[in-house]
Amino acid sequence: MSIAIIAAVGADNAIGAAGNLAFHISADLKHFKNLTVGKPVIMGRKTFESLPNGPLPQRRNIVITRNSDYNYPGVETASSLKDAVELVYDTPEAMIIGGAEIYRQALPLADKLYITQIDATRSDADTFFPDINPEEWNESTEEWQTDPKSGLKYRFACFSRK
Ligand SMILES: NC(=O)c1ccc[n+]([C@@H]2O[C@H](COP(=O)([O-])OP(=O)(O)OC[C@H]3O[C@@H](n4cnc5c(N)ncnc54)[C@H](OP(=O)(O)O)[C@@H]3O)[C@@H](O)[C@H]2O)c1
Repeated sequence: MSIAIIAAVGADNAIGAAGNLAFHISADLKHFKNLTVGKPVIMGRKTFESLPNGPLPQRRNIVITRNSDYNYPGVETASSLKDAVELVYDTPEAMIIGGAEIYRQALPLADKLYITQIDATRSDADTFFPDINPEEWNESTEEWQTDPKSGLKYRFACFSRK
């Protein structure tokens, strides 16, 4: 099984502000959907609670929490990242979808990183992606694009572990 991380990351590694995504780019949400549909998605409890419509459809939703009573329809819970990964051991690619706490724990285990790089910062950002050590990863990037609504510049990057 391969473990992949997917994240949208600002120029200063920002990913979140006040419990929400730091940046909203509709092409990135489509990209996220294309890469995750049909695969299990593993997330921290705070990220799960930030989803606007509950569990993500057409995906097995696994929420990591220390609260053993946590219960939500359409969701499986796990008491650690390791337990979450064990739940989906028979899948070709498990997708780690955040947030910062879970990215930090998952980065050493990941084989692949799907990163949307956003050429912007947010002064009120409060959650950040961990540093990606270029010595450990091969990076391939697509062309920079501009989101017509927000004017944000972004590009899709993919890192494979060396
Ligand atoms: N830009 C992006 O791509 C992106 C993606 C995802 C999220 N985000 C943003 O990131 C922010 C949320 O990130 P966050 O770091 O605050 O929270 P998080 O990682 O989503 O969730 C943290 C929670 O996960 C549980 N947890 C973490 N480590 C655990 C462990 N080892 N064992 C058991 N449970 C564990 C705990 O839940 P309990 O407290 O229930 O025990 C903890 O409070 C939001 O702003 C969100 O919008 C951004």
